[in-house]
Amino acid sequence: MKLKRRTFLKYAGVTGTTLSLGGLLSACGDSTTATSNVTGTGYNLIDPTNLVNFKTPLNLPGNQGLLGFVDAAKVPLTLNAKPEKLEIIKGKKTDLLTYQLNSADGKTVINPIFRLKTGDTFDTTLTNNLGEDTTVHWHGLSLDWRMDGHPSMPVSKGGNYRYTYTVNNRGGTYWYHPHPHKITARQAYAGLASFFIVEDEDNQRINEALDLKLGETDLPLVIQDKLFDDKGQLVYPTDTNSQFMGLTGDTILVNLTPNPYLEVNSRLYRFRLLNGSNARTYRLAFIRSKGEAKLPYWLIGTDGGLLDKPYQVSELFLSPGERVEVLLELQTLDKDEVVALKSLSFDPMHTEMGGMGNTGGMSGMGNMGGTMGTNNSRLEDGKEFNILKLVVKNKVSYTRTIPPTLSKIEAPNLVSSVSRPIVLSQSMGGGQSGAMMSWVINGKTFNMDEFPVTVKRNSREIWEFRNEALSMPHPMHLHGFQFQVLERLNSPAQLKSLATFEKGLLATDLGWKDTVLVWPGETVKISLDFSHNFEGEQTYLAHCHVLEHEDNGMMFNYKVV
Ligand code: C2O
Ligand code: CU
Ligand code: CU
Repeated sequence: MKLKRRTFLKYAGVTGTTLSLGGLLSACGDSTTATSNVTGTGYNLIDPTNLVNFKTPLNLPGNQGLLGFVDAAKVPLTLNAKPEKLEIIKGKKTDLLTYQLNSADGKTVINPIFRLKTGDTFDTTLTNNLGEDTTVHWHGLSLDWRMDGHPSMPVSKGGNYRYTYTVNNRGGTYWYHPHPHKITARQAYAGLASFFIVEDEDNQRINEALDLKLGETDLPLVIQDKLFDDKGQLVYPTDTNSQFMGLTGDTILVNLTPNPYLEVNSRLYRFRLLNGSNARTYRLAFIRSKGEAKLPYWLIGTDGGLLDKPYQVSELFLSPGERVEVLLELQTLDKDEVVALKSLSFDPMHTEMGGMGNTGGMSGMGNMGGTMGTNNSRLEDGKEFNILKLVVKNKVSYTRTIPPTLSKIEAPNLVSSVSRPIVLSQSMGGGQSGAMMSWVINGKTFNMDEFPVTVKRNSREIWEFRNEALSMPHPMHLHGFQFQVLERLNSPAQLKSLATFEKGLLATDLGWKDTVLVWPGETVKISLDFSHNFEGEQTYLAHCHVLEHEDNGMMFNYKVV
C-alpha cells in the first residue's frame, strides 16, 4: 500500500493545531523540526535498554504526595485538575497536568489512588483549572452515562462537575483519566491518570491468605512511556506519523519514576499493572539476572478483577488501557539478586506501513520518520527494554501458599445473543473533518451526534472485532460494560505460544475485560450483556485505546435503549 506524502501532510494540518496549553508541552507539529533533543549522552543515562540506568527509587503510593491513597468512601471530595511542576527527571522540573486533592489534615495528594469497596458511594466534584475543557472518565466502571465522562458533557475551564455514583463493579484495578473531545491523548499524556481500586471479599481473602498489604506488598504500578526534551519538558508530537501510529516515547516511567528500582524481600508480591501509555504495548516478563532466565509468575486478575484461579505464565501482552494483576514469588532468590520487569521484543505489526523507513518504499516518509514522529523516539516499538528493577534486599521467611481458587467467573450466557461485526480498518479519505488518512470502525470516524449502534437494555450480543490484515494492533475498549472474550481467530504467529486455551484464548482473556487487543488480521469475539439499572437512554463510547487513534476518530457512540 502506497501512501502519498501529501496525504500525510494534510492530515497533519488537521491535528497539528491542538497544542494550546501554552508552554506546557513542546509542540512538534512540523516534520522538519526535531524537538526531542535530549542529547546523545543525556539519553544514554536514561536509556531503558540498559539496566545499569535503573537507579531511581520507585515512587511508592503512600498517604500523601504523588499517587497517595485516598479512602474515597467516607466524605464528598474535591478533585482539582491543574497544572503542576514536578521533578520527574532529576534536577529538572517538568510541567505536568495533575489531579489534586487536599485532605482534611492539610495534606495534598497528587493523582490520588481512590480506594473503595463494592457498594460504596463515590462523590467527588471536579474543578477544572486546566484552562481548557476536560472530563473525567472512570475506566472500567459501569456507570450511568452522565457520570462516565462522555466528551459531549465537557467541564469547561473554571467549571465544576459532580461525579457521584455507587460502585457496582467487582473488586479490581480500575483507573481514571480525561476524555475531552479530541484532546484526551494530550491531557492523559501530560499526567492526568491514576488508579481506582475497588475491594471486595474475594480480594480481601487473597490478601489475607498471602499476607499482602496494599501499598507495601500489593503494589499498583502504572507504566507509561514519554518523550522529554533536554530541559526535562514533555514533548508531544502532533505530526501525521505520530498521530497515525500513536505516540511512543523513549523514557519509561513507572508511577512517574524514570528507570525505577525497588528493594524487595524474598517473599511473594502482588503487582497491579496498568498500561497507562498512549500507544505502546508491552510484552511483560520478569527476568532473573542470574542466568538471564524468565521467572514464571501468576496471573490472578484482569481489567475487571480476579480470575477464577491463578494461571502460571512467563510473559503476557499488556496494551494501552489494560490491567493485569500478577503474583511474583521471590522466596528462592538470594540476597542482592536482581530481577528485571522487562518488555521483551516483539513484532509490533505495523503492517500498514509496508516496511516504510527501512526500504524507502514510501518516498519522503523515510526522512520524515528519521527526525520526527514515532521514529523520533529512540525506543522503537517492539524493541526489548527494562521497565523496573527489583533488588532482593532481605531474606525473610515466607511460607504462605497461593490459594487454588480466587473467585468465580460465570461462563457467559449466549442464549439469543446476536452477532455484530465491528470492522477495524484504515481509510484513505472521506474521514471526518477532512482527514485524509485515518483509522475507522465499520468505515466511519467518530461523530458526536451519530449513534451507529443501538442495543436493547437487558439484551445480549456477541461483538466480533475484525481487524484487517493491513493494519496495526488496536486495543478495543468499551465504556459502560465489562465483557468476556469468547474466541480469537487467525491470531498472528507470535501469539501462538500464549494462546494455549480453548478457542485460541490467552490467559489474559480468561477474566472480565473492558479492553482487548486485536492484532492485524485477527478476529476477536466478545460477549456482552447489556443489563443495567440506569434510568433512561444511555450513551456510551467504544473506541481504540491508542489515544491518538481515539482522538482522531477511531471511536463510536452506542446507545442502550
Ligand atoms: Cu480509558 Cu474511553 O477510555
Ligand atoms: Cu473507559
Ligand atoms: Cu487503534
